Amino acid sequence: MSILIENLSKKYGKFSALDSVNLEIKTGSLVALVGPSGSGKSTLLRVIAGLDIPDSGRVWLTGRDTTFLSVQEREIGFVFQNYALFKHMNVYENISFGLTIRGANPLTISNRVNELLKLIRLEKFAKKYPSQLSGGQRQRVALARALAIEPKVLLLDEPFGALDIKVRKDLRNWLRILHQQVSVTTVFVTHDQQEALEVANEIILFEKGRVQQIIKPQDVYELSLLKKLFFVP
Ligand SMILES: Nc1ncnc2c1ncn2[C@@H]1O[C@H](COP(=O)(O)OP(=O)(O)O)[C@@H](O)[C@H]1O
Ligand SMILES: [Mg+2]
Repeated sequence: MSILIENLSKKYGKFSALDSVNLEIKTGSLVALVGPSGSGKSTLLRVIAGLDIPDSGRVWLTGRDTTFLSVQEREIGFVFQNYALFKHMNVYENISFGLTIRGANPLTISNRVNELLKLIRLEKFAKKYPSQLSGGQRQRVALARALAIEPKVLLLDEPFGALDIKVRKDLRNWLRILHQQVSVTTVFVTHDQQEALEVANEIILFEKGRVQQIIKPQDVYELSLLKKLFFVP
């Protein structure tokens, strides 16, 4: 089990953002987290990442109790909307950042970054700055940056949310292929039905700070279930 969440709760004032969440995510799976706005999806990812501390409960990552470990100690990669690329660094520097601050040696860093540049098909863009890239290219760089440290878990909070439909579709396909190649345990938040159904092995329906249902895309045959999943009245 890559991610094991035990009785996780988190309140903001009197409001329960996470209400005794229990969840197991298998190693190597690609899981979509869906649910209404304000249901606690981002809070859950932040607590898993270590950007937020829960009031109670435990977060286990690959068998280790990481509840009180720092972000760095958790060996996770994340792409959150408010963690944009570093503007003053070029693509190469953005991707190498995590390895550099961990004191990796220069040869290891350049091998790893070149491998990732190939993976995101931006080999020719190493020297470009974020402002010189398209939205889709920037998100690919953000993913490469998250993958650079070879994380055990990858967390993506609406990674393609701000992009237009054509680019979203490309990136969605690309994420699926990337996941087949790298097979890192991945949890991604989306409000795009197609995205969840096409990409994920498993869909977690989150509501009011709790896991309401876990669904396999191949089981989504009932219209009522589909509607429930995406809150069609
Ligand atoms: N730092 C915070 N301070 C106060 N309330 C917060 C904070 N972060 C989230 N919340 C509240 O917790 C609830 C869940 O938020 P969030 O996890 O961002 O939901 P989602 O990602 O599903 O839209 C929301 O009602 C939000 O207003
Ligand atoms: Mg959110």
